[in-house]
Amino acid sequence: MAPHCRSTPEHWNRVADRWATVEERNPALARHKRRVYTQLITEFAGDVLPTRSLKTDLFAEAFNDEEFLSALPWARSVIGIDISQAILRRVRSRPRIETLQGYVTCNVTKLPFRDNCFDLIISDSTLDHLSTTSEIRAALHELVRVTAIGGRFILSLDNPRSITYPSRWLVRLWMRLGLAPYYVGVTLSPAEARAELQSLGLKVQQESAILHYPHPDGLVRLAERCIHKLFRSRLDGLIERLFTASERWGGTRARYWTGRYFVFCAMRESRT
Ligand SMILES: C[S@@+](CC[C@H](N)C(=O)[O-])C[C@H]1O[C@@H](n2cnc3c(N)ncnc32)[C@H](O)[C@@H]1O
Repeated sequence: MAPHCRSTPEHWNRVADRWATVEERNPALARHKRRVYTQLITEFAGDVLPTRSLKTDLFAEAFNDEEFLSALPWARSVIGIDISQAILRRVRSRPRIETLQGYVTCNVTKLPFRDNCFDLIISDSTLDHLSTTSEIRAALHELVRVTAIGGRFILSLDNPRSITYPSRWLVRLWMRLGLAPYYVGVTLSPAEARAELQSLGLKVQQESAILHYPHPDGLVRLAERCIHKLFRSRLDGLIERLFTASERWGGTRARYWTGRYFVFCAMRESRT
């Protein structure tokens, strides 16, 4: 992988080729992420059964056990998009989740769908892999355009208010040195994201911060793998319990200091 890169389809295709050969696994973190997202989405979707929904990238579905789509009873209603053809190819070769309604290679800032056509949109930390905040805003505009009136939008983004969120220069250096596994983009603050969604006609109905572990992700994953190597699976239960306990921060006023991502569950009320 080029040590310093931009978020292009070629970059993500290269990441996909490399990732396909990586054996590293983080079972405790994977189960935890899967549980947190499944709970969040199930809670927000309530008793609504979406007939057509959209997920804005399929990285986890392609490569690891963090994917949560297969835990949702309405997974068949999902159209999954990704900028990388290689990632979509890989997802389709994994039997567990080949049941989506569709797979589309496209850029989230320019969606090939008609207005108001999805009743649920899940965008879990995709937009924080874009290069500029203008691109994030363009993507939000597109995602809202394709959300039906009365439809729901679940957005998670890197939380810049976390006390371990690194400065941009450090992230750039990290990428230049080849230490980041892929391109890490910019993000919005919760206040900026809320204002943007409101200006696009969405009402934020629930908000929180999730996954309360520190940056960088790579170190947390490495720590889990080292513990696993030293103690086999004997401490897996304990690690998972620690992850679960840390999620209680989500219910406190300090949640934005510790949460790796902030999440908004919003409803589209009007046309923009
Ligand atoms: C590193 S992954 C992580 C996101 C993931 N949802 C997670 O589980 O944390 C970023 C994904 O976003 C996709 N992606 C990046 N830029 C994109 C864009 N402009 N449009 C659509 N997908 C994009 C990449 O191909 C990749 O699958």
